[in-house]
Amino acid sequence: MIKAVIFDLDGVIVSTDEYHYLAWKYLADELGIPFDRELNHKLRGVSRLDSLKIILQHSNVDFADHDLDELTDKKNSYYKNMLQELSARSILPGAKELIESLRSVKIKIAVASSSKNAKTILSMIKLFDKFDVITDGNDIENSKPDPEIFLLTSKRLNVPPEDCVVIEDAEAGIEAAKKSGMKQIGIGTNESLPNADIIKKDLSEISLNFILSL
Ligand code: BG6
Ligand code: MG
Repeated sequence: MIKAVIFDLDGVIVSTDEYHYLAWKYLADELGIPFDRELNHKLRGVSRLDSLKIILQHSNVDFADHDLDELTDKKNSYYKNMLQELSARSILPGAKELIESLRSVKIKIAVASSSKNAKTILSMIKLFDKFDVITDGNDIENSKPDPEIFLLTSKRLNVPPEDCVVIEDAEAGIEAAKKSGMKQIGIGTNESLPNADIIKKDLSEISLNFILSL
């Protein structure tokens, strides 16, 4: 029986996935290397540094470690500038309703995000106080597709993995949830998430009864 729902943040609860894309696109254009939405999809759920490595590898470009730090700092500053536009209006369809209905029946809820900006974002969209647990990129060594973030979240929630369901828009997140022994719901399409057990367009398609039936 489902006792906890673990939400990814970027692209599931809030539309920040578009800002991640735009910030990487800006950096790639500066470096004169190709970057498009298809490559961006591979970066969903992946840490900042690992994302940069994927972009550079795609163009067979090599940088020293200190340059990688400079480049990730640059991308993060572009991204944080964009975050200034964020407000409660950036919350994606169905998120608030699903969070409230889960809370009303005391199903535990958590955010498990690879982002080091997750807590800032949750405060900006005024959802910070809604969750029993928030685990983010500052708490883990290995980002999705490693299961570390979900296993840590399950421990903090005190709910075993088999009683948790993860809601994710990232291939890396679906893989991590599978490895951690949790059920998963993919937010996207069959093409964008070929490995997800269940696919929904957004959170407005997920009802409390649906969660209880899993
Ligand atoms: C994930 C995003 O939530 O966080 C990734 O899907 C992003 O695209 C990752 O790279 C790390 O985010 P941040 O905010 O720490 O750069
Ligand atoms: Mg995501």
